[in-house]
Amino acid sequence: VHETVLLEGAVEAMNIAADARCIDGTYGRGGHSAVILGRLGEEGRLMAIDKDPSAIVDARERFGSDERFEIVQGSFADMSSFAAEQGWEGQVNAILLDLGVSSPQLDVAERGFSFSRSGALDMRMNPDQGQSAAEWLAGAEEKEIADVLYIYGEERHSRRIARAITRAREESPINNTLQLAEIVADALPRRERGKHPATRSFQGIRIFINRELEDLEKGLAAAVDLLAPGGRLVVISFHSLEDRIVKRFIKRESQGEVLPRRLPIPGEAAAGRLRAVGKPVRPGEAEVSANPRARSAIMRVAERLS
Ligand SMILES: C[S@@+](CC[C@H](N)C(=O)[O-])C[C@H]1O[C@@H](n2cnc3c(N)ncnc32)[C@H](O)[C@@H]1O
Repeated sequence: VHETVLLEGAVEAMNIAADARCIDGTYGRGGHSAVILGRLGEEGRLMAIDKDPSAIVDARERFGSDERFEIVQGSFADMSSFAAEQGWEGQVNAILLDLGVSSPQLDVAERGFSFSRSGALDMRMNPDQGQSAAEWLAGAEEKEIADVLYIYGEERHSRRIARAITRAREESPINNTLQLAEIVADALPRRERGKHPATRSFQGIRIFINRELEDLEKGLAAAVDLLAPGGRLVVISFHSLEDRIVKRFIKRESQGEVLPRRLPIPGEAAAGRLRAVGKPVRPGEAEVSANPRARSAIMRVAERLS
């Protein structure tokens, strides 16, 4: 079961009319999709996307018979081409991205996302595509590993950990989650209170393996092209790297074209394509105490200008 973060708040922010065309770029277990469908009338449409085959199975079981609904396996980075197949270019009224991993991905040990459950070191949202974490760690150079831990995991001790990983793999392949968690824990000089020592490293490797930040950049750019005037973009981030990208994107798209200050002939700058709606929203105390995943969530909303 996935306990959806900002369930009503996010769908409310999508501002959905009965005949809206909507995209849920991160189906997960359909928490948001179910509420979106509840707001749509007969003419409304929802296209949901997820990389994960288990999410696709869930979507078909739950909503497969609903003619307003379609599920696509793939990345939201490619939503332009999925939407083009429906003839939806420039006509989408609301797009939601609820980033990161779902609870079932974390809970199933064999998916390899969890540093506290023994499983194959995989970490791919789509296990049929690309390199697993174990495959990557087996072949990557020490510097590359250190960079991934530093950039995507914001791990200060990235070099030490990368050194420990390359040493350990000379002894035996690193293909189990707990094995990696232990190598990382042993490499750290001291432990942080209340935080598993492998938290940052696992986050960094996961983001890298799934190209999460590249997908986010592409997905945001695609979303703005697809939205109809007045259409809403709603993004829920779970760490500062994601939120920074979303925040900067909305800011850039709100400013429009920035002209050089001393133009010989004053020109007219192109207007921005987005308007930020309200302030960033964080889940309330009640939600955070009921659902620990909500603690780090932050939602930003923007509207497409004509
Ligand atoms: C936080 S969960 C979404 C939960 C969902 N809103 C719900 O209420 O059930 C994130 C989901 O997005 C998927 N995902 C992450 N990055 C993706 C991407 N670039 N393209 C498509 N799906 C992605 C993951 O596989 C995961 O199922």
